[in-house]
Amino acid sequence: MEKKASSSSMAVSAIWCFVAYVTMATMSCSATSKPSFDDNFSIMWSENHFKTSEDGQTWFLSLDNDTGCGFQTKEKYRFGWFSMKLKLVGGDSAGVVTAYYMCTEDGAGPTRDELDFEFLGNRTGEPYLIQTNVYKNGTGNREMRHKLWFDPTLDYHTYSILWNSHQIIFFVDRVPVRVYKNADYENNFFPNQKPMYLFSSIWNADDWATRGGLEKTDWKKAPFVSSYRDFTVDGCQWKDPYPDCVSSTTQHWWDQYEAWHLTKDQKLDFAWVQRNLVIYDYCKDTDRFPTLPEECSLSPWD
Ligand SMILES: *[C@@H]1O[C@H](CO)[C@@H](O)[C@H](O)[C@H]1NC(C)=O
Ligand SMILES: *[C@@H]1O[C@H](CO)[C@@H](O)[C@H](O)[C@H]1NC(C)=O
Ligand SMILES: *[C@@H]1O[C@H](CO)[C@@H](O)[C@H](O)[C@H]1NC(C)=O
Ligand SMILES: *[C@@H]1O[C@H](CO)[C@@H](O)[C@H](O)[C@H]1NC(C)=O
Repeated sequence: MEKKASSSSMAVSAIWCFVAYVTMATMSCSATSKPSFDDNFSIMWSENHFKTSEDGQTWFLSLDNDTGCGFQTKEKYRFGWFSMKLKLVGGDSAGVVTAYYMCTEDGAGPTRDELDFEFLGNRTGEPYLIQTNVYKNGTGNREMRHKLWFDPTLDYHTYSILWNSHQIIFFVDRVPVRVYKNADYENNFFPNQKPMYLFSSIWNADDWATRGGLEKTDWKKAPFVSSYRDFTVDGCQWKDPYPDCVSSTTQHWWDQYEAWHLTKDQKLDFAWVQRNLVIYDYCKDTDRFPTLPEECSLSPWD
């Protein structure tokens, strides 16, 4: 009995190994090594404020009174699912902003498109806020701010962007926190023409970030360190002049009907976020916008 069981379990594990080997081979990574930072990213500035863990799978960006640091993908993408796990600077992080964003260029150029997640630090024990924003052709002013339902400095959480030509959704641990719709007419305020890189950076923003700039960065607490892991892209990698995957062929899940709208479960989660976590919504700010931007009339539920 015993012998029989062990030989069949050996056969099972041999098959499993073979399947695992084939799967890994078709994923075109080597059977033994995980992707390294350099495969997909390069440092934008201050190499000496960047570190990786010993196994190369966790990355650390630090900010001190000298400088911050940033990295970006080597490739550009247009549409897809973009995801990464982040653990933010703990303790007293007032004034410190960790940004995680997609942008058409590696600078603040006057015609850039951009999708932002910004994590606004705070004094010890006071809550972080996330700010999201959308830019088209150099213009932003589409801020929203949310509280989180956990302390983002204690553990890694997943922050993701779904982008197709119908909607952009910002997710936190797969919960949709913001839905940005395409009004679908020529030159509307929906970035879908240009491929984007993915970036992350840490920097000092104590002129505006925490309580509107009242709380200043306490440099005695430096260095401030944010950590990253598990970068995933399931999307269309850009190739000049125009890759096949970018046209709306609906061949990919991120470009199929289900990804053009919130699903039933996502609607429940989104309703909960709307009720409990929204701190600021530019679409409600009629002092700032006597005439609200046009996309504010689009329903996230459609
Ligand atoms: C990361 O780099 C590897 C090696 O160049 C490449 O095969 C893979 O497609 C890249 N991954 C992404 C998400 O771009
Ligand atoms: C930056 O911090 C270091 C270490 O705390 C300190 O020695 C240095 O004087 C500071 N520099 C500036 C420009 O504040
Ligand atoms: C983008 O902005 C630039 C300069 O701000 C302007 O000249 C151009 O017409 C704009 N393009 C579109 C498509 O709106
Ligand atoms: C920081 O904490 C204060 C006090 O709890 C809060 O009012 C504020 O919204 C928090 N976040 C930021 C970014 O100011």
